[in-house]
Amino acid sequence: MKRIKAIYPGSFDPPTNGHLDLIERGSKIFGELVVAILRNPEKDPLFGVAERRSMLEAMTSGFDNVSVETFDGLTVEYAVTIGASAVLRGIRAISDYEYELQMALMNRKLQPSLETIFMMPAEQYSYLSSRLVREVAQLGGNIDSLVPELVAQKLREKMDPALKFANVEPPARQSRARKKKS
Ligand code: PNS
Repeated sequence: MKRIKAIYPGSFDPPTNGHLDLIERGSKIFGELVVAILRNPEKDPLFGVAERRSMLEAMTSGFDNVSVETFDGLTVEYAVTIGASAVLRGIRAISDYEYELQMALMNRKLQPSLETIFMMPAEQYSYLSSRLVREVAQLGGNIDSLVPELVAQKLREKMDPALKFANVEPPARQSRARKKKS
């Protein structure tokens, strides 16, 4: 069977369990899968590109054929540059279909050799989106089952920067604390 290289482009702000589910499915059918984060200067993302990249790298470290890159400009141009012949996109519900169809057809018009492959994430993720995860986190809701633990932790830190240091005791205080105990 032909080894197909595919890209999975997106904003991933933040990456969710739905994205991970799709990456896992894609890694099984493509020879190589490049998760491609759009560097979009017009958007005001919650996470910077480097943060999203490191989260996705950690999430996908168990997949031998998955890598994470960033790109700007047209998806089709980036795909051609790296020798990909397919674009992977997820469709969660009918509501996704119209936008995804439009994008797939525009991409085909721009680059006829590139094929868009749609996959459906597991049904428990059919309501999940980065936008809703951001909103729930910003309003203090529980996001534990929606994103991997490392992303949940990063979200908690974004909402309350003090948490970043909550579990890290400075060495001086640590030794004093130990002395007190004995
Ligand atoms: O995760 P998203 O925000 O749904 O991803 C959308 C993305 C990044 C795939 C789309 O906006 C995109 O491909 N942008 C790059 C610019 C481009 O190629 N535009 C023409 C699309 S038809």
